Amino acid sequence: MQIDLSGKVAIVTGAARGIGREIALALASEGVVTVVTDVNEANLDGIKREFDELGYRGAQYLCDVRDFARIEQVVESIVQTYGKIDILVNNAGVAGGGPVASLKEEVWDLNLDINLKGTYLMCKGIIPVMKRQQSGRIINAASFAAIVPSYGSAAYASSKAGVRQFTRVLAGELGPWNITVNCYAPGMIPTDMNHFAERPDNEQERLLDTLTLRRWGSKDHVAHLICFLASDFADYITGTMIDVSGGKLATQIPKVAYEKAGGEAK
Ligand SMILES: NC(=O)c1ccc[n+]([C@@H]2O[C@H](COP(=O)([O-])OP(=O)(O)OC[C@H]3O[C@@H](n4cnc5c(N)ncnc54)[C@H](O)[C@@H]3O)[C@@H](O)[C@H]2O)c1
Repeated sequence: MQIDLSGKVAIVTGAARGIGREIALALASEGVVTVVTDVNEANLDGIKREFDELGYRGAQYLCDVRDFARIEQVVESIVQTYGKIDILVNNAGVAGGGPVASLKEEVWDLNLDINLKGTYLMCKGIIPVMKRQQSGRIINAASFAAIVPSYGSAAYASSKAGVRQFTRVLAGELGPWNITVNCYAPGMIPTDMNHFAERPDNEQERLLDTLTLRRWGSKDHVAHLICFLASDFADYITGTMIDVSGGKLATQIPKVAYEKAGGEAK
């Protein structure tokens, strides 16, 4: 079984750093013409240099997922240049938070506007293209927070739970055009968004204790899932959320298995 994505055209939002960047590089390495969008111009320049060095095909656009007029310009430009858009990865996201009693309204709005409304606006911009093609793959970043939220995450978790339901509704609407819509729930992938692996040891231990595999995830873990979801092998998967979290809270206290295993486990 070999994934073949060559000749496809993808757009990945918020892909100038972090997981999105890894997704863009993985798709491009599989032969996908990969368009990277982000609000961070310096990071966009960085990924452009990397694409050029590696000989990957694609383009970079400054594009805020909250700006529908700009999304329409970018979509038009991609279609003019490459003729189609096969894959949309709605990766762009922010994760501000705080307990509800003191949560600032602008933090709530920022999470909902970028994570949820931004996903909707990108889909709205690209759906006409995919409908014309009678095919397409839309893949949205949800989060483990859409399954079990953590303390102080009301704004973020609500936005990601929204992405999950949005994904199901859109899958239902786009089935007749052979467009699949799925989302994924990363667990704990250290990035500049969360700095998991730079926290004090005791805090890291506490977080790792929630994982069945008891190790941090890597950006690659998510990128490989996206390549699969974008491929022909995932042709019959739609309206679902795939958890890529090392089995986070798969059981109530994953740590028990490690205590029972004692010296037998690595
Ligand atoms: N890292 C994790 O463990 C984890 C867990 C669950 C979900 N996620 C989700 O995965 C996605 C990527 O996370 P990450 O950890 O790589 O984060 P990150 O902060 O490293 O990257 C996010 C990217 O989105 C861009 N962005 C922010 N606002 C934007 C906007 N308005 N328009 C366009 N781009 C914008 C940023 O510039 C940045 O490049 C997010 O949606 C996040 O919620 C991550």
